[in-house]
Amino acid sequence: MSRGVPRRFYARDVFCPELMANTVLVGAQWGDEGKGKVIDYLTDRVDVVVRSQGGNNAGHTVVVGDTKYILRLIPSGILRPGKICLIGNGVVVDPISLCEEIAELRGQGVEISSRNLLISDAAHLVFPYHKLIDEQRELAHGRNKIGTTKRGIGPAYGDKIARVGIRLGDLLEPELFRERLESRIQEVNWLLQQYGSKPIDWRELGDQYLATGEQLQDMITNTVLALHRLMDSQKEILFEGAQGTFLDIDHGTYPYVTSSNTTAGGACTGSGVPPNRIDRVVGALKAYTTRVGEGPFPTENQELSDLLHSMGREIAVNTGRKRRCGWFDAVATRFAVMVNGIDEMAVTNLDGLDSLETIKICVAYERDGKKVDSPPTCVRKFKRCTPVYIDVPGWKEPTTSARSYDDLPKNARLYLEKICELAGTKLSLVGVGQKREQTIVVR
Ligand code: GDP
Ligand code: IMO
Ligand code: MG
Repeated sequence: MSRGVPRRFYARDVFCPELMANTVLVGAQWGDEGKGKVIDYLTDRVDVVVRSQGGNNAGHTVVVGDTKYILRLIPSGILRPGKICLIGNGVVVDPISLCEEIAELRGQGVEISSRNLLISDAAHLVFPYHKLIDEQRELAHGRNKIGTTKRGIGPAYGDKIARVGIRLGDLLEPELFRERLESRIQEVNWLLQQYGSKPIDWRELGDQYLATGEQLQDMITNTVLALHRLMDSQKEILFEGAQGTFLDIDHGTYPYVTSSNTTAGGACTGSGVPPNRIDRVVGALKAYTTRVGEGPFPTENQELSDLLHSMGREIAVNTGRKRRCGWFDAVATRFAVMVNGIDEMAVTNLDGLDSLETIKICVAYERDGKKVDSPPTCVRKFKRCTPVYIDVPGWKEPTTSARSYDDLPKNARLYLEKICELAGTKLSLVGVGQKREQTIVVR
């Protein structure tokens, strides 16, 4: 493996997927880029997989053999025996959902214990009142709703930033936990009353949460120290991003975003691993674009949506909503490459375009008669951007059995090369199907 090789050298100058080093994988679009599948593939080459932001709003699909696994809070690396998975301090954890996820995966034969799953004691808890507030805010927004997953993610991060959150480690101190919850519930019940919702009985809720604390107690630890110890013993880390660049609270299409830093920097703050220990950043993206929820999406295209939905594709795993679909957007991708420092791209779902005669690529936007080369910060301006397309020929044959880059039809290779050239980065992986083996390494 990479031990003994100067990090910066192989990380930046020579691409070799067998040499992993510490790698951050980010979604380069609006989420659901196929990160779970890419993580599962790359986990083979690392020792540790870390989630550092988001919560159970994420839904990462991994297909191994004939079994489909859905990972929400647990890193996708858990499917590979012998690997250590960590849920970092930057994640917001609904412990009831986490216990359900553990039970579900165990039911599918996945081993999970404190030997392979550690959870940060500093991760903030998501409570049922966060979900209620999330729902009520969406209702109040009416037509201007964000289209959240209603998992309480925004209100939970809100409490964290407002310094009124309750953390996972607090579950291990029942008295302190009850005290904090009782005090928090006073304000929460006042707010719920304004929404016309029933008040919450903090005692009942406290008992329910403390019971989850008992189930998880062996796994709850100081993951910052654990990660540094692992790095000191030359273990290699893979950071599993959740959501995508344009859902980032700072760099996304605010307010149509999630409430965490989904871009590469979030891997550091959400785990306690410093920036100088990160060797490379891989961006996951689809060969086209999808988005769930509201907000600007310049290349959205109804015909492409209809085609992909008719193939049974692009249905959100968490909420069952149909994803909005559109063409590849080079303007957005260039920005994602810049803000994340993407060294290489993993392009998934190439096979989704297999049947098309002609494929459109958005190379610029136009707004009020002027050319626009980067996504506007202001969402109103973004909504007024229309795409400028080039047309490229499709390949009109299945790519799903391709196992090497050379197996791909010429026009598929030309398409991939074109989008990477426009995005200003290298291609390292291509996905041609849901299964683990339907992954092509580009050398
Ligand atoms: P994530 O949230 O980024 O992990 O992505 P999701 O799992 O939510 O959505 C991606 C969908 O695309 C899932 O159904 C994956 O199984 C599927 N997928 C990933 N890569 C490929 C690919 O190359 N081809 C096909 N056909 N499906 C893929
Ligand atoms: P993965 O990790 C796609 C979207 C929601 C909504 C917005 C805010 O599977 O890629 P939230 O519930 O986070 O407050 O919702 O963000 N969203 C996602 N879209 N993939 C995800 O995760 C998402 N997580 C949140 O649809 O538009
Ligand atoms: Mg997903």
